[in-house]
Amino acid sequence: MTGHCEPAEAEVPEAPGRLLVAEDDEPTRMLLVTVLSRAGYDVLEAEDGREALALIRKHKPDLVISDRMMPEMDGDELCQVVKGDRSLRPIFFIMLSVKASTGDRTAGLDKGADGYLAKPIDRMELVAHVNAGMRIVSLEQELARQIEEERRLRKALQEEQRQLRETLDELHQTQAHLIQSEKMASLGTLAAGVAHEMNNPISFVASNLNTLGEYVEDMMALLRAHERLLAHARTTDDDEAARLAGEIEAVERQMDLSFLLDDLGTLLAESRDGIERVKRIVSDLRNLAHADDEEFTPADLNDYIKSALNMISGQLENKAAVRQAYGDLPQIECCPGRLAQVFMNILLNAAQAIDRDGEITIETTCDTDVVRVRIGDNGTGIRSEDLPKVFDPFFTTKEVGQGTGLGLFISHGIVAKHRGEISVESEAGRGTTVTVTLPVKQGQS
Ligand SMILES: Nc1ncnc2c1ncn2[C@@H]1O[C@H](COP(=O)(O)OP(=O)(O)OP(=O)(O)O)[C@@H](O)[C@H]1O
Ligand SMILES: [Mg+2]
Repeated sequence: MTGHCEPAEAEVPEAPGRLLVAEDDEPTRMLLVTVLSRAGYDVLEAEDGREALALIRKHKPDLVISDRMMPEMDGDELCQVVKGDRSLRPIFFIMLSVKASTGDRTAGLDKGADGYLAKPIDRMELVAHVNAGMRIVSLEQELARQIEEERRLRKALQEEQRQLRETLDELHQTQAHLIQSEKMASLGTLAAGVAHEMNNPISFVASNLNTLGEYVEDMMALLRAHERLLAHARTTDDDEAARLAGEIEAVERQMDLSFLLDDLGTLLAESRDGIERVKRIVSDLRNLAHADDEEFTPADLNDYIKSALNMISGQLENKAAVRQAYGDLPQIECCPGRLAQVFMNILLNAAQAIDRDGEITIETTCDTDVVRVRIGDNGTGIRSEDLPKVFDPFFTTKEVGQGTGLGLFISHGIVAKHRGEISVESEAGRGTTVTVTLPVKQGQS
């Protein structure tokens, strides 16, 4: 081994890179392999361009030194294939040739090579060239790593931002939900308080109206007796009696007694009807306040939905078909009578929203620890601006006397006492679906 050709020890790279030597001339190839192995590199070797390409694809070396003139596939073609392939392009490609004029070198570099070495090989120059190439390769690798790392960080950041946005959305929803529950709870308390205060006056007004009705009956009997007296007075010879009878008749005409008597009955009947409606509202609201005083018992909701449906079936006749899909439900802890009232309110609303040829669907399902009841209709639907108000007490779009606007408010209260949820989805002109979700068990406290 000749001393002057040995490469300087200091030039050996820290981490050995993998090189590939493509050379058909065996002595030259041996020389390249020996020098580069000594320089600390891991060296693969190929006898022609095709073999080189197969090894390159398999082992992805950091650097290739390729003879320009080779059988099967020459160095130029090999270089073009390597540089034309996205995954191989980062490989540092050094062309090796006896043709080493400036023109040859330029042509080689133009083909895409990153370096050019002339034959015969100068060992020092070879190692220096390869070391320089490897420095570039490792810088490029470092750069690629950094770009990859940056991309990873950016992706992680985007993912974090997405999660944050999701959390924020969830928070907003929870907040809206809490505000809604708070609102409903305070409205419930307020309504129950008002109902409690109204209960006494309403009761005595109702009772007074009854007494008043009885008094009116008595007065009517008296008036009828008066009429008979008047008729008699008109036919007697007693002038004073006839004059008094005339006076009374004048007063009767002036006050339009016959109309007054007719109207008295109507007014009393309307007042009784009105007071009955107010009594029902007051009693509903008071019942709501005492809903949790009731015993919770295990019950199969399907039975209570069916009986609610029975109760309103009169309102459905010739108007809507009812499609029922009852799932297998476990018994749930509840106040079944109260829940039947909820389903009746929902079913009544559905019936009232349908003019004719409608369809109501009832579906019950069970999910591990909750049961879900869905009642849908293809009726009028609810305008989007009304949707947030449907649970408000006294919100109604129905005519006076048709709806009080308490059905859903009371239903919401009853479902809340069961620690459940009730929600309404609707589209004007298409229909409405009300979903009630109730826990199977009520849990402690
Ligand atoms: N299935 C439905 N289809 C269309 N609108 C509905 C439906 N359910 C509820 N609504 C709307 O919500 C409003 C409130 O319903 P809610 O049951 O509380 O009161 P109501 O039916 O008007 O009166 P009440 O139930 O006290 O007799 C209704 O007036 C109606 O506008
Ligand atoms: Mg209703």
